[in-house]
Amino acid sequence: MTDDAAAAPHGLGRNVANYGDRAFSLYLRRSFAKSMGYSQAMLDRPVVGIADTGSDFNNCHRTAPELVAAVKRGVLAAGGLPMAFPTVSLCEPFLTPTSMHYRNLMALDTEAMLSAQPMDAAVLVGGCDKTVPAQLMAAVSADVPSALLVVGPMLAQRFEGERLSACTDCRRYWARFRAGDVDAGRIAEVEGNLATTAGTCGVMGTASTMACLAATLGFMPLMAASAPAVHADRLRFAEEAGAQAVRLIRKPVKPSALVTPESVENALRVLLALGGSTNALVHLAAIAGRAGVPLDLHRLDHLSEETPVLVDLKPTGDGYMEDFHAAGGLRALLRELRDLLHLDCPDLDGRTLRERLDEGPAFADRAVIRPRAEPVSPVGGLVALFGTLAPDGAILKRSAATPALFETEARCVVFDGLEDLANRIDDDALDVTPQDILVLKNAGPLTPAGMPEAGYLPIPRKLARAGVKDMVRMSDCRMSGTAFGTIVLHIAPEAAAGGPLGLAETGDRVRLSVRDRRLDLLVDDDELARRRAKWAPPPVPRRGWDKLMREQVLQAPQGADLAFLRPEGR
Ligand code: FES
Ligand code: MG
Repeated sequence: MTDDAAAAPHGLGRNVANYGDRAFSLYLRRSFAKSMGYSQAMLDRPVVGIADTGSDFNNCHRTAPELVAAVKRGVLAAGGLPMAFPTVSLCEPFLTPTSMHYRNLMALDTEAMLSAQPMDAAVLVGGCDKTVPAQLMAAVSADVPSALLVVGPMLAQRFEGERLSACTDCRRYWARFRAGDVDAGRIAEVEGNLATTAGTCGVMGTASTMACLAATLGFMPLMAASAPAVHADRLRFAEEAGAQAVRLIRKPVKPSALVTPESVENALRVLLALGGSTNALVHLAAIAGRAGVPLDLHRLDHLSEETPVLVDLKPTGDGYMEDFHAAGGLRALLRELRDLLHLDCPDLDGRTLRERLDEGPAFADRAVIRPRAEPVSPVGGLVALFGTLAPDGAILKRSAATPALFETEARCVVFDGLEDLANRIDDDALDVTPQDILVLKNAGPLTPAGMPEAGYLPIPRKLARAGVKDMVRMSDCRMSGTAFGTIVLHIAPEAAAGGPLGLAETGDRVRLSVRDRRLDLLVDDDELARRRAKWAPPPVPRRGWDKLMREQVLQAPQGADLAFLRPEGR
């Protein structure tokens, strides 16, 4: 082998392990690579790494093996050498305490493997809620040119004259079961019909919201955000992602170049127009934060006033992801928002958003993707709230909330944490009325609970049985992107960080004003000072990931990222 080959700047010659002798290191690597049966011609090709997130604990990613095979076809046909590698894979229902607790671990793992292994570009195969944010956070930090491929949404299932899909219908039926109007036999029937194909949840939950934001940012084709997991197009998008990665080797575009103040604002617009998941706000803040772009919640409020909800999908509307795709998908939506977008933002091929919107058929099904003149709602789906209960902000998904509850001042019933909630919420002796505000504290990112999707506090059983469908609920945790209700989330600072939420007690009065964007704890300063003198932060876990999270995790407005992974390393 020549010194020139040893110094090769691409393919397996990148990031050569150093045994104190670079040429020896490369010789060793090539001999090990040859043990896999590659020809020399293959080994001379540039390398596309494929982050394979197939896992038996991830039903959403069940198609990962065939997607990876299709990506490999695309890479090979374009002249690259595809090399798949495993990373952490996260699927919502299979992780304790919550998948969110491990998003940063997946981001750290993926970033390390993108940086450590010899690849010229990458295809990231993601999909389920936390996987796309983790992969984009990793891509921006490693800054290895990367195309994203999502697994795509599942299809809805026909069931006794209606359609079902994870997981808005899961919650709808469970609420009916709790209220006593669906029995155990029927809920078992429903359980077998909620998620019947591979793919991510079939509504505009976090997974599909993040897919739409990632495509808006330019990491994949617009229609790739919504093509069903089991449609043959999904495999064609996989092939194309492989070809895209090889184009990125010839003409590199760094992930950080796609995450700019303008592209992040476009993503926020899309989030609002989708009536998308509240979780996407935390994830977008984390992704943008990796590029040094702050996400300003006051700006969100401003954008929300002038960005209508145009997409009529569950959980805020009626349809499923397959309807959105058939209706023209993200491309049709973005065309409708055209005048509100920064159209010069580039994608991985350097094409502007303007150019991307000018391509493809003009079709749009207006029952699903509304025209601007007939929006689902004239204002955006999310608002940020500030006040004495949330000095650094909180979020409300108004498109999934009950307008009659938007201006509420009431007594609050406080739960100290998840255990307290589980122990008391269904107790018939619980002192609660439909007019009260339910408050959950100690469930934020700093707690062992890890900011779970527990913000959708159940209606106390005795009230649910009496027909109560919604109440004002608030917490420092999150809710599923597929959930609905008048639910204030992501209160910052969280209780465990010493935020005022930690001082709230049952019987206090709280005021929510969506009109004024306020969230206030109506307790006087002297009383709060007395309570604060008695407050103590929760103990730090002794070891492992929990300890690292506790010491490093930031609050929701900073994306709940780890401080040392942000560019400023705070
Ligand atoms: Fe994977 Fe909903 S559980 S997207
Ligand atoms: Mg979800």
